[in-house]
Amino acid sequence: MEFTLDASPAPGLETACLVIGILEDSNLQGSAELIDQASNGALLQLIKSGDVDATWKHPTMLYGLEGVAAKRILVMGCGEAEKFDAVRYDIMCKSAGEFLRDHATLSAHVCLNELKIDNRDGHWRLRQAAVGIDRANYRYTATKAPKDYDNDPLVAASFSAGDELQAALVEARGLAKGYLRSKELGNMPPNICNPAYIADQAREIADSYENVSVEILETDEMAKLKMSALLAVGRGSANGPRLVILKYQGKDADSQPVVLVGKGITFDTGGISLKPGANMEQMKFDMGGAASVIGAFEACAEMQLAINLVCVVAAAENMPDGNAYRPGDVLTSMSGKTIEVINTDAEGRLVLCDALTYSQRFNPVALIDVATLTGAAVVALGHHASAIMSKHDDLVDELIEAGQTAVDRGWRLPIWDDYQSQIKSTFADMKNVGGMAGGSITAGCFLSRFTKGQRWAHIDCAGSTWIWGSDKGSTGRPVGLLTQYLINQAG
Ligand code: BES
Ligand code: MN
Ligand code: ZN
Repeated sequence: MEFTLDASPAPGLETACLVIGILEDSNLQGSAELIDQASNGALLQLIKSGDVDATWKHPTMLYGLEGVAAKRILVMGCGEAEKFDAVRYDIMCKSAGEFLRDHATLSAHVCLNELKIDNRDGHWRLRQAAVGIDRANYRYTATKAPKDYDNDPLVAASFSAGDELQAALVEARGLAKGYLRSKELGNMPPNICNPAYIADQAREIADSYENVSVEILETDEMAKLKMSALLAVGRGSANGPRLVILKYQGKDADSQPVVLVGKGITFDTGGISLKPGANMEQMKFDMGGAASVIGAFEACAEMQLAINLVCVVAAAENMPDGNAYRPGDVLTSMSGKTIEVINTDAEGRLVLCDALTYSQRFNPVALIDVATLTGAAVVALGHHASAIMSKHDDLVDELIEAGQTAVDRGWRLPIWDDYQSQIKSTFADMKNVGGMAGGSITAGCFLSRFTKGQRWAHIDCAGSTWIWGSDKGSTGRPVGLLTQYLINQAG
């Protein structure tokens, strides 16, 4: 979607649709007030008569309002003034975006960013509105015939602001691009989106920016590096694994990079410890961590942030096969530590442990892995927050704050040493499952053994990256949290 700024008075704007917000028990703000004046009080009249509803998330479309040049006006009900905060603002912008998507408006002029919110400035309001509306206008079409009732989504939005807020649009374009990449990767079927496809996507990003380079390791090279845990997971599949390394240089070469590591299981059958059949098709989203680190990487390159960034993706397919790894196997990871496989469905930590060992060569300022690692993370936090685990309080604070700013929230789980005993093994240095109790935490504890001495955090996005059920699909999350973290590092 194309974003522009236009500070001219809303009533005179020739546009397919003006978008304004109104609060209950509160005076009209900004453009809403101008529209009311231009229409001789028609807007307030419609609110009074109940034809326009200010209650929370209630949209009304007005046509041909006298004195207003726009064809239509979308009035978003924003609910009670004292409840209207950053989270509600974000939801309201997305819901306005959905309404526009479904109402055949190809372009719109948006004034929602005029609405005041405590502790959020005009830059933030503009950026979130643009990203929210863009995300709402996403449609998956890659493997579908266009249906005649599918009208085109919004393609251009101007926002009520002057040129001094151009920087907010730069961020919005970066975030929108990152979310789009992540969503599209997450939704793509596993027969298309396999490890080689993820590698091709990384090459495409590298080709688009001068200061981005890419390296792809295949089985032979990973074998030379002794990545036996990662290779074991991929061994049952005809689609060989890849280690994808993207590098972005936005600062002098000797400045330490942030390193993002993503779990890229392009399909998780569970392997020999086969998952039940129901809903298994959704296990294509087991590369949601990889999709979001690639998305955040692309956002960073698009914004040309003043940081160095490395993105490492461990891409593999977890399949049952005559050649597959099995429960009982003992694997020697790249670090030299041995792992007893109890369950081949706990494969994410096996690909990540080698990717994390590999990543330490970049001497990161922060090493952050992102993974759809455990169903237990969904049990613990549902779909609203990503689980953040780290022993570094300052890094946790930075990530949680970034999530709050981007309205892509994370919440901390402990990884105290008390949990470590659950992954003790009789036959190896550790086993790959820690039992029912604290399943997300013991997975984090497993990874912690491969990140000694690193400023490391683990983000389990199993709940946040995907919507289940009839509306199933990728959310692109946590691209927002990660990108905001990178923006903050650059600033
Ligand atoms: N990819 C799954 C985790 C997952 C499950 C994410 C459901 C989203 C929804 C992961 O590879 C897995 O299978 N984990 C197992 C671990 C268990 C065998 C210790 C799980 O969570 O059940
Ligand atoms: Mn699994
Ligand atoms: Zn998995």
